[in-house]
Order: sequence, then structure tokens, then C-alpha cells
Amino acid sequence: MKYFIANWKARKNQEEAITWVQILLELISQNLDLKKKIDQSQTKIIICPPFPFLNSIKEMLSNWKNIELGCQDLSSFDEGSYTGEVAAKSLQGLVNYAIIGHSERRKFFNETNELLFKKVDMARKYRIEPIFCIRDEKDIFPKDINYLAYEPVYAIGTGLNESSQKVTAMEKTLNLNPKIKFIYGGSVNSNNYHDYSELSEVDGFLIGTACIDVNEFFRLLSIT
Ligand code: PGA
Repeated sequence: MKYFIANWKARKNQEEAITWVQILLELISQNLDLKKKIDQSQTKIIICPPFPFLNSIKEMLSNWKNIELGCQDLSSFDEGSYTGEVAAKSLQGLVNYAIIGHSERRKFFNETNELLFKKVDMARKYRIEPIFCIRDEKDIFPKDINYLAYEPVYAIGTGLNESSQKVTAMEKTLNLNPKIKFIYGGSVNSNNYHDYSELSEVDGFLIGTACIDVNEFFRLLSIT
């Protein structure tokens, strides 16, 4: 199973969000090879839109297996008086996955390891699978995590994707428990995907820029 995680970040309005999903589902329906890979659990797509669109997209995906929803963050607090926070409890049943510790959260919102570990606990409490992001081998991560996303900061959104050699070297350096799904993120697109397509070490991809336009995201999926 290869994972393609579409991280929309803080983009799109309601109409754009719905159109993106409609087009993706139409394009997949017409591509029998890709449809088969999805149906047979060789490919899984995890769409991570902003919170306000989760509910409508969830309904659109109700008949689709292996196209699932994730959120890009969640609160470290359990339910309570925390104005503006989105608690894991509110997301339970809506998302299956949560990206936690993206470098943009660490940089712009000063999220610390301590806070991120709390978020992981909170996600798990409400049966949401954390996808924990690290920037390099110095970032600590919960040892019992199932999904670890390696995203070197210089490669994010810059077009400077990290070489496949460096990505696999990092996987070795981390000496991961084999049950952990190792995800790479950083300027993956339909032009450079072939660099990574044969790597057995890499279980999936976290995709930002290349999922802004649904046609580019589909191009990437259809060459997998
Ligand atoms: P990018 O973003 O594909 O634009 O580099 C990846 C990410 O931030 O998860």
C-alpha cells in the first residue's frame, strides 16, 4: 500500500474544496488502472483539507474505499473551555488521520515536542491515527507511532525535493521499527515522482504544492 497524503494547508474556499474533490473522483473513475489500485488497497489517498470542509468532503467520499480524510492539526487539550481550538473529540468519526508536528506548525505556532506528544495522545484517545512529522533525525518522535513523515524544511514548497538517496539514508539513520510507515514529503510532484516510485523504504508521500491543483495531483497519482 502506498499512501498519498494531500495537505491542502490553509487554502481554498468551500466551493473550490468541493470542486477539487468532485474532479478528483471523476478523474479516478475514468482511470481504471488507478481505480483498481485504490480498490485493491495498493494505493490510499488521504485528503487533509482545512477543518471547515471536512464534513462536506466526508459525505462525498462515503462510497469510496481508500480515499479518506485527515486533519492538519488538532488541539492538545481535551474537550473544554478552549475557545477556537478543535478538539480530537470533535474530529472523531470525521477524520481517520491527523498530521501532527508539521514544520509549519513548529515554526509559525511555536509547537514544541512536549505539545506535539500531547496531541498524539489526544488523537489516539479519540481513535485518530497520528501522522507525525519530523524535519530531520534530531527531532524526537513517539516510538510507538505508526506513521512517520520525514520532511526536510529546505525541501518544503521550494521545488528542491530531496534526492532519493538522501531519503533512504534518513530512513536507515532513523532505524525504525519495520511496522512504522515511512512517509517522505518535500516538493514531490509528477515530474520527480519517478525518483521515489521504486523505493521499498518509502511507504508514501506528503504532498503540498502538487495538490493545490487537482489535475496535478491526479497526474501524480496516475503515474504511480
Ligand atoms: P510541498 O509540501 O509538497 O509543497 O513541499 C509538503 C508539505 O508541506 O507537507
